Amino acid sequence: MLPSILPLALLLGAACANQLLLPRDLPPAVAANASTYTDCANAEWPPSEVGAELVPQAPDDELKEMLDAVSAANIETIIKKLVSFGTRHSMSNQTDPVRGIGAARDWIASEMRKHANASEGRMTVSVPGYVQGVASRILFPTKISNVLATIKGSSDPSRVYVVTGHYDTRVSDVLDYTSDAPGANDDGSGVALVMELARILASKSPKATIILGAVAGEEQNLYGSTFLAQTLKNSSTNVEAMLNADTVGSSTGSRGQRDPFTIRVFAQGPPLTESSTTSSTRLTIGGENDSPARELARFSNEVAANDATGMNIAIIYRLDRFLRGGDHSPFLAQGYAAVRYTEPNENYDHQHQDIRIENGTQYGDLVDYVDFEYNARVGKVVLATLWSIANAPGQPRNVTVDTTTLSNDSTLKWIRSSGEDVKGYEVVWRATTAPLWDRVLDVGLTGKATLPVSKDNVIFGVRAVGTNGYKSPAVIPFPG
Ligand SMILES: *[C@@H]1O[C@H](CO)[C@@H](O)[C@H](O)[C@H]1NC(C)=O
Ligand SMILES: *[C@@H]1O[C@H](CO)[C@@H](O)[C@H](O)[C@H]1NC(C)=O
Ligand SMILES: *[C@@H]1O[C@H](CO)[C@@H](O)[C@H](O)[C@H]1NC(C)=O
Ligand SMILES: *[C@@H]1O[C@H](CO)[C@@H](O)[C@H](O)[C@H]1NC(C)=O
Ligand SMILES: *[C@@H]1O[C@H](CO)[C@@H](O)[C@H](O)[C@H]1NC(C)=O
Ligand SMILES: *[C@@H]1O[C@H](CO)[C@@H](O)[C@H](O)[C@H]1NC(C)=O
Ligand SMILES: *[C@@H]1O[C@H](CO)[C@@H](O)[C@H](O)[C@H]1NC(C)=O
Ligand SMILES: [Zn+2]
Repeated sequence: MLPSILPLALLLGAACANQLLLPRDLPPAVAANASTYTDCANAEWPPSEVGAELVPQAPDDELKEMLDAVSAANIETIIKKLVSFGTRHSMSNQTDPVRGIGAARDWIASEMRKHANASEGRMTVSVPGYVQGVASRILFPTKISNVLATIKGSSDPSRVYVVTGHYDTRVSDVLDYTSDAPGANDDGSGVALVMELARILASKSPKATIILGAVAGEEQNLYGSTFLAQTLKNSSTNVEAMLNADTVGSSTGSRGQRDPFTIRVFAQGPPLTESSTTSSTRLTIGGENDSPARELARFSNEVAANDATGMNIAIIYRLDRFLRGGDHSPFLAQGYAAVRYTEPNENYDHQHQDIRIENGTQYGDLVDYVDFEYNARVGKVVLATLWSIANAPGQPRNVTVDTTTLSNDSTLKWIRSSGEDVKGYEVVWRATTAPLWDRVLDVGLTGKATLPVSKDNVIFGVRAVGTNGYKSPAVIPFPG
């Protein structure tokens, strides 16, 4: 036991590492001599004798230029066009050239094809779909079509990143497919974001493959996203991350509260697809807060909460909001890492509502309630995340920590990526109670590192560093 006379904080911290090696039962005289420890009063715990404070990855000039190109005016134009189709309900008319989801689908595809034209063949546009049979929210067999713009990766095309918004909409009655359902924010904002990213990325050459999708059937049961996630899984596609942008166009809540510089990112804990062995090991090692989705959210926070986006990122340790679902869920169900971006303050009068004025209150998901500048800033967050992850090397594989003997040190191993674009690896870590990685050690181009830091006190991660300086999300080690 530490003598109670010593405040714990005095014992802790980077400058205090040696003090921690004192015998457990300190002689009372030493214990009483608290001045010995005062240098340590404000230090972090656990102490770190190695590594450095983790400095977030900053956008390079190319990325900054791309972020500057995200246009609120373009987003406004796109959302207004989407609203002009009257309703985009999944069961609405699919052949009318002006009104209904079919007209919206064709317009989105034609815009995407225009962007693809600037890509020198890197970007291709497809509209895969299937007929969804009658179900609780489907009254008659209904074609569900996704519009996908795929940018083939230049050096690692088999590694895939997906971003989607849903272009279908609804009103109060989820089965009402004829009334006007503008869906300006839910999810015109996400579709506009995806289309604006397609415009900017069309002329770029990311290392890994990017799929930018406008999916349908979200309001009826996440049908379009489920079809997309299953198609990718069935073709054994290596989707390393999926980003769902849904309702990202307004920062003003029901009580008028505003937070125009924050975007929430919802990230689920332990994957339900994990084997029971893996999930019980995860509990044993305290890895509950380090699911692939949470590492993805941490990555997004590191690369996209900065002056270049003008945004803060609020990571929510949760799959989604209560009573709500989203298009990241079908990807999680296939074992892919996936997160959801959603505005910080929602206004339920403007979601899933018939357009009407009732008791003096305007209801409906109208374009009037979208803040295009805010929507554009969220676009920058998603773009910074997507570009940074698609240009970093793939995540280290089979990351393990040696737990075969008691040791004050920690030995980590991983399989080195095969690509030539890897400069080396970094070990990152944080206290078990800390939300974000805060220490880092460059360990070079290796598959093994031993650190004089006890694995009992921290969460470790390993990340790959590219020759271009881009860094992958971190992967936590399991005992191996
Ligand atoms: C108490 O601290 C002072 C100043 O650091 C040191 O000189 C002295 O030896 C310490 N006394 C004991 C009993 O540790
Ligand atoms: C869809 O619109 C087209 C063109 O206006 C019309 O001919 C067709 O009957 C409509 N289909 C349905 C199912 O209402
Ligand atoms: C594609 O580019 C070519 C040549 O720049 C142009 O003639 C054509 O109209 C473009 N097509 C579309 C759909 O924008
Ligand atoms: C994917 O494969 C599963 C299992 O074979 C099958 O049930 C499902 O229909 C397939 N989905 C798609 C979209 O191909
Ligand atoms: C409007 O007022 C009526 C009468 O007080 C009430 O029954 C109704 O629930 C109110 N509508 C809404 C949406 O609050
Ligand atoms: C890496 O992990 C995969 C998946 O768990 C496993 O199948 C494979 O055997 C591992 N490879 C090595 C070299 O340990
Ligand atoms: C831990 O470190 C201490 C101090 O260096 C050393 O005496 C001890 O043997 C180490 N324990 C193990 C299990 O390596
Ligand atoms: Zn939505």
